[in-house]
Amino acid sequence: MQQAIQFIRSNLSASYSTLELQSVSRLLISKVSGYSFTEIIVNKNTTFSEEQRKILRNYVEKLKSGLPIQYVLGETEFCGLNFMVNDAVLIPRPETEELVQWMLEEIEHDSLVLDIGTGSGCIAIALKHFLPGADVYACDIDEDSLGVAANNAENLGLKISFFQCDILKTEKSDRKYHVIVSNPPYIPCSERKDVMSRVKDFEPERALFVKDSDPLIFYRKIAQFAQLNLFPGGNLFFEVHRDFGKACVQLLEDMSYAEVQLKKDIFGNERMVKAVKK
Ligand SMILES: C[S@@+](CC[C@H](N)C(=O)[O-])C[C@H]1O[C@@H](n2cnc3c(N)ncnc32)[C@H](O)[C@@H]1O
Repeated sequence: MQQAIQFIRSNLSASYSTLELQSVSRLLISKVSGYSFTEIIVNKNTTFSEEQRKILRNYVEKLKSGLPIQYVLGETEFCGLNFMVNDAVLIPRPETEELVQWMLEEIEHDSLVLDIGTGSGCIAIALKHFLPGADVYACDIDEDSLGVAANNAENLGLKISFFQCDILKTEKSDRKYHVIVSNPPYIPCSERKDVMSRVKDFEPERALFVKDSDPLIFYRKIAQFAQLNLFPGGNLFFEVHRDFGKACVQLLEDMSYAEVQLKKDIFGNERMVKAVKK
């Protein structure tokens, strides 16, 4: 195991910060050995078989090409749950866990919920896991994402209704909801140059970027959709770009939403919005 750690460090130290490298090493060793993080420490003198070394070399080669560790391993953790991921879906982020946390504090346990742009299904699935009495629906424009999300729900034994939908072209739904949530694409194309290549070269374009000419397009369309398809008093939740929180609040107030709140993440960035339909 010590040798494996050395091998990882010498091959990947140019690609990651010291802190990132520690976490990448732990994830790789855990995946190859099947040990939990604690078991790795206890078993640090164990040696890898030739087969395990081959698997590790393969992972390290993929990481050297820039592929995110979550895609290399095919899985990641979100809200303490294990999610399968591949390059069809955005890798779930910690700030989205904070959005889910906020929702869990605010919404009724038996709510009818819709997650728009579900990707891996992380928001919808975490909500259903922590609120088993909720009736959860989730949609995405992308069929491959819906396949990943449905597998994730099945692996976790959770019943969620997934459907395909282009929210930019949808006005009415068959049912009304108590809660609508979305973490839509929100990075203006002009910011592409500032986005890490590990993100822009590998994660789905459709999940990330919006036209510079209308960066709030998804917020406006989803807020219009929610006007028609939320029950009165229903809640709308968004994750937002840290520079667009106030603009999103303004947009929702202009559309007559009540109690519009902007919330900061643990780093002090304005990343979450909640509004109530009158
Ligand atoms: C930022 S990702 C969020 C994924 C997931 N909800 C999460 O939080 O990790 C945005 C998602 O919106 C989906 N999407 C993009 N355009 C869409 C559209 N017009 N209608 C519905 N979904 C769309 C993308 O396929 C992607 O899965």
